[in-house]
Amino acid sequence: MLPIYMDHNATTPVDPRVVKAMEPFLNAQFGNASSSSHAYGWQAQAAVKKAREQVAAFVGCTPAQVIWTSGATESNNLAILGVARALRREKPHFITQVTEHKAVLEVCEAATEWDATVTVLDVDTQGFVRLEDLKRAITPRTVLCSIMMANNEIGTLQPMREIADICRTHKIILHSDSAQSAGKCNFDLKTLPIDMISLSGHKIYAPKGVGVLIVRPINREFELKPILFGGDQEHSLRPGTLNVPGIVGMGEACALAMSEMTEECTRMCTFQKQILLAVQTHFPQIKLNGPQKSRLCNNISLSIPELVPDELALDFSGVAYSSGSACNSSNPKPSHVLKAIGLSDTLARATIRLGLGRFTSPEEVQTVTSKLLKMLGKLYRSTTVAQNF
Ligand SMILES: Cc1ncc(COP(=O)(O)O)c(C=O)c1O
Repeated sequence: MLPIYMDHNATTPVDPRVVKAMEPFLNAQFGNASSSSHAYGWQAQAAVKKAREQVAAFVGCTPAQVIWTSGATESNNLAILGVARALRREKPHFITQVTEHKAVLEVCEAATEWDATVTVLDVDTQGFVRLEDLKRAITPRTVLCSIMMANNEIGTLQPMREIADICRTHKIILHSDSAQSAGKCNFDLKTLPIDMISLSGHKIYAPKGVGVLIVRPINREFELKPILFGGDQEHSLRPGTLNVPGIVGMGEACALAMSEMTEECTRMCTFQKQILLAVQTHFPQIKLNGPQKSRLCNNISLSIPELVPDELALDFSGVAYSSGSACNSSNPKPSHVLKAIGLSDTLARATIRLGLGRFTSPEEVQTVTSKLLKMLGKLYRSTTVAQNF
């Protein structure tokens, strides 16, 4: 039997309603959205248009501002390297922060090959960027600031409104990797001045291999340059035959998130509180990484002193969880995010991440909580807890 899936920050299952919406485009309606001379192409074009409108409605931008990509990694690359290429002559200065996903940090590093310089801000012990640090880092050459909305490992929600205000004041382009926050945090670009947003299909119950970059210059006029070449799709900004089934899935996933987010987040918040309360009541020595409030409603990151990761795997079997971030779990180095909030190597290694999702049931939460408490009871030799759960 497969374990209970508690790793929704790594990826989500495709919602059956998304699968249903995609199906025709994997079968009879297989046309290329660039084919303008026959009905197969027209069907595909119409489907892409609808999906573009669904994404635009979800984030509060215009359909023309939606650029299809293969996922958040590519969107981040296009946003950051696209600005580096566009403004290369200005020898631009970029600002980012230390707990970003590698898909931002390594891209910023690559941007230095296009003559950019980069400042990486530290964070506090809960993973928040300090606004004073951001203000201090700004120079006359600063053109881009890339700050994620929600952290994938520890769930910290950055103060995007304040960050956006600072960027607006200084006419700095603001990019935000929103792979984790989409569908979990209410953000409306009509009122939140962010210039570029990266989204990933597989974090919002659409398939892997599709994503979006929203490009809507507000803070400063600029024309993003492509990083891929060879076609005129997406205003030549992202050439290549469009992934029509994936795009349809992304559109449907955004429409579902839009209508179900409030109820879904309330449910996940209740589950999150339930697990945390059980753990913190019985084992106060366990550290919740990231803030108690202002955190993703589906993320629980726990550092467990004395935990030996290999032994945990045995004791916590039957649950699909992650140690640190999924992208790093094959990497024996302790997570850069956990290190950045001040954890020792040992404690960072003794960390587990649980990610709740749309289809997580109360029974699953109950089972996972008892398994967790049992495992902790055994670890800390608390026979009462170990026996009671
Ligand atoms: C914050 C964040 N950014 C970017 C990515 C990469 O997204 P994708 O898999 O769509 O390339 C992830 C996925 O783990 C993520 O959590």
